[in-house]
Amino acid sequence: SWTMLNIVDDSVQAVRRQVGDGHAICALSGGVDSAVAAAIVQRAIGDRLTCVFVDHGLLRKGEAEQVERDFVAVTGVKLRVVDAADRFLKALEGVSDPEDKRKIIGREFIRVFEDEQRAIMADGPVEFLVQGTLYPDVVESGGGTGTANIKSHHNVGGLPEDLQFKLVEPLRALFKDEVRRAGEELGLPAAMVWRQPFPGPGLGIRIVGEVTRDRLALLREADAIAREELSRAGLDRQIWQCPVVLLADVRSVGVQGDGRTYGHPVVLRPVTSEDAMTADWARVPYDVLSRISTRITNEVREINRVVVDVTSKPPGTIEWE
Ligand code: XMP
Repeated sequence: SWTMLNIVDDSVQAVRRQVGDGHAICALSGGVDSAVAAAIVQRAIGDRLTCVFVDHGLLRKGEAEQVERDFVAVTGVKLRVVDAADRFLKALEGVSDPEDKRKIIGREFIRVFEDEQRAIMADGPVEFLVQGTLYPDVVESGGGTGTANIKSHHNVGGLPEDLQFKLVEPLRALFKDEVRRAGEELGLPAAMVWRQPFPGPGLGIRIVGEVTRDRLALLREADAIAREELSRAGLDRQIWQCPVVLLADVRSVGVQGDGRTYGHPVVLRPVTSEDAMTADWARVPYDVLSRISTRITNEVREINRVVVDVTSKPPGTIEWE
């Protein structure tokens, strides 16, 4: 729209004024906020922006490709991809406690990002760090101006606190729906623009139990099927998000094909919500649930049971971990 075009243009101008002929870096998470922020800054300063995408191996099916291929194709952004899946999995070995997982993922993220930042700065100074802070975040954190002290932003796992960057926050005046419209205006991939909330620690906190490569592969397939069927049923805008959770330490008996199986259950957790503070379980039509269940148990070996979580928040949180 005309006004959104103006907002994007104004934002590009403002970034140009702020950064001058300086350099900036930006961490991409796969989510809409960091993508829109990066796209705006790219328009403003072009190749003087370097984006870093730390692929922790905990994203859902297709999401890394969306960043590496589709986002880059549309924006022309200069991107460094770090395939850090091995490193994250190694660090997560033997860990089942949810808060430990979060800490480890956050810590590894910072380390990898710092390594990249050092490599980038070997080519010349970088004065600015781009963040996808939205208006509600600004209000929540007391509205301080964006300078040295970087707010630990849980979506990217928390960035280093001690860096003396100046912050570039092109989304500071925007609400989420405006960010999405800006994303459309910038031509970003629809799946990115309309992505539902997804936690920074990713699938790492949707495997109840230890996170392993095999378990991730199972969950990734089951999650992709659930997302596909919910989208096909036109429910994307009604459902706030639908975590799919692998109960990796639980086994249940089933019959699949000719034999008895001893596989894992997955939980579907579709919720409606305004802001994630409270939520209700979503009344997904039975035939949609049925298709999801049939497809997952047919297509994902080792998953022989699909259950639906009908708990509101409170008392249940949206995620299981
Ligand atoms: P809960 O489970 O607390 O989730 O009801 C509320 C919202 O926050 C998301 N969530 C997270 N996001 N890092 C994130 O970036 C996290 O560690 C994390 N834990 C939960 C969750 O997906 C929901 O939207």
